[in-house]
Amino acid sequence: MCKEHQQLEQLIANNQQWSKTCVEKDSEFFHRLAAQQHPDYLWIGCSDSRVPANDIVGLAPGELFVHRNIANAVQATDFNCLSVLQYAVEVLKVKHIIVCGHYGCGGVQAAMGTEELGLADNWLRQIKDIYVKHKADLDNLRFRDQQINRLCELNVIEQVGNLAKTKVVQHAWQRGQELSIHGWVYSICDGLVNDLQVTTDNLSQVDSAYHLSPTDGATRPEIATAVSCEIPKK
Ligand code: CO
Repeated sequence: MCKEHQQLEQLIANNQQWSKTCVEKDSEFFHRLAAQQHPDYLWIGCSDSRVPANDIVGLAPGELFVHRNIANAVQATDFNCLSVLQYAVEVLKVKHIIVCGHYGCGGVQAAMGTEELGLADNWLRQIKDIYVKHKADLDNLRFRDQQINRLCELNVIEQVGNLAKTKVVQHAWQRGQELSIHGWVYSICDGLVNDLQVTTDNLSQVDSAYHLSPTDGATRPEIATAVSCEIPKK
């Protein structure tokens, strides 16, 4: 048997042991899970293999709905993330959304550099924009590691804001649904989460330019398409 195959065999063996242990601890565990999931939390985290969502916060299967991508980004054009968000908020009715970045994030570091990586450059463009927006403040930090870690925090804060700008979140608040968005950064060095204290739970915390008023077809405002071709006289 080749080495790679043996590695996968080990994973299957691990899985069988895990399943057995779960049933030994709680004979109804899988029956209950199979029937329904009732998570109170949506986790939006980095894909980094050192940041295992459930383990960090001590939650069992069924207790955390998870979306992960490079550098825990929430982009308005990402149907994957938006679909997860909509399902979590409108169907599962989670009460909390946690954006959890991590210090030393490779995606954040890459966004600070100019090296071409390929497809990921497009994904990281938004993180680069955050870097440029805060570059003057970041440059004041003496060490590169400090700059990277601060940008990890600023990125999380920006993503919390991005979530609050979505229709899904704003409609939930308009319906009176209890929903708060939290920004955390996890440290791989000590396993501890740093709460950035940017919890957002209502529309008044969002710049009014981003407020979306619900409309149906009948009340949808007409979008002006007429263009004035007159050149203003000096
Ligand atoms: Co990362």
